Amino acid sequence: MSRVRVAVLMGGRSSEHDVSLASARSVVEALDPARYETVAVEIGRDGRWEIGPATRAALEGGGEPDVESLPVPAAQIPATLSEVDVVFPVLHGPFGEDGTVQGFLELADVPYVGAGVMASALCMDKDLFKSVLRDKGIPVTDSVTVRDANGFESPFGFPVFIKPARLGSSVGITKARSQDELRTGLDLAFRHDEKVLVEEFVDGVEVECSVLGNLEPVASTPGEIVADADWYDYSAKYDEGGMELIVPPRISPEAIERVQELSVAAFRATECEGMARADCFVRGDDEVLVNELNTIPGFTATSVYAKLFEASGLPYEELLEKLIALALERHQRRGKLTF
Ligand SMILES: Nc1ncnc2c1ncn2[C@@H]1O[C@H](COP(=O)(O)OP(=O)(O)O)[C@@H](O)[C@H]1O
Ligand SMILES: [Mg+2]
Repeated sequence: MSRVRVAVLMGGRSSEHDVSLASARSVVEALDPARYETVAVEIGRDGRWEIGPATRAALEGGGEPDVESLPVPAAQIPATLSEVDVVFPVLHGPFGEDGTVQGFLELADVPYVGAGVMASALCMDKDLFKSVLRDKGIPVTDSVTVRDANGFESPFGFPVFIKPARLGSSVGITKARSQDELRTGLDLAFRHDEKVLVEEFVDGVEVECSVLGNLEPVASTPGEIVADADWYDYSAKYDEGGMELIVPPRISPEAIERVQELSVAAFRATECEGMARADCFVRGDDEVLVNELNTIPGFTATSVYAKLFEASGLPYEELLEKLIALALERHQRRGKLTF
């Protein structure tokens, strides 16, 4: 049996470039070389694409993936991608998780892991995401969408969360406790996006749940995020010891079930495919709100997405195999359609 050729897309233009490299290295290391041939495609912060065989040796040496044969003319990229069996985009944030890369892969007619164009774009936009969830009766945090900071006053009192609509990793987010902090927070958020959300503060437990599948998505055991900070900010996310994941979460069995139910419901509502990590808040009275879906969550073997499936009995290597199989299944299914 010939090996499956997998191109792993890594890096990317967003501020999550380095996080993506770490995730992608984990993926390449975990793919069994007897069954998978991996090609590393690294996208620079400047948008330049570089190709190289991500040899195990290079990875085991802890160095950068092997990109010796570089740079290759950008024109060769589509050809290379159409020669592989499947592409695994391990890119976080804008220009990777937001449908842009997915659109490129659709054009090239190559199977790829994870959400399609629309679901990726939708889950990247916290404003439109909530509109769809509300429409489907899935509870979300109250918020207002702001396009002009002038004269804006909080309809929720304080504290409130201020967020750029289409970013991730807590970049550009402020918890504002006063009108002054609201103003500074809006300034910061508008540096990252033209659309900003101001959200009511939710006093509750942060619970995350991994979802896997195409037409029949399944939820993992959820986990509770305990940030070593007032909220789950950038350093809590990425600093060593900044966060503790507690599995299962310290909430009632009913609330756990509700988190799983709503995570799958949100996945279906947004027409996600392959994978997504659903981030929820659970209030004291067990009310569960969906905060967001991450269509390409942090993806190292010790990232929350993988850990939750590990805790549910699905090891990382098998999770990757499943995701690749799901990508191939979707491509085959959709290939039967007439356009
Ligand atoms: N409405 C809210 N109430 C309480 N905490 C919030 C609220 N919104 C966000 N947070 C905190 O901020 C973090 C980042 O917000 P989130 O919407 O998940 O943005 P990102 O896409 O950057 O992860 C959350 O994990 C949580 O700790
Ligand atoms: Mg988040």
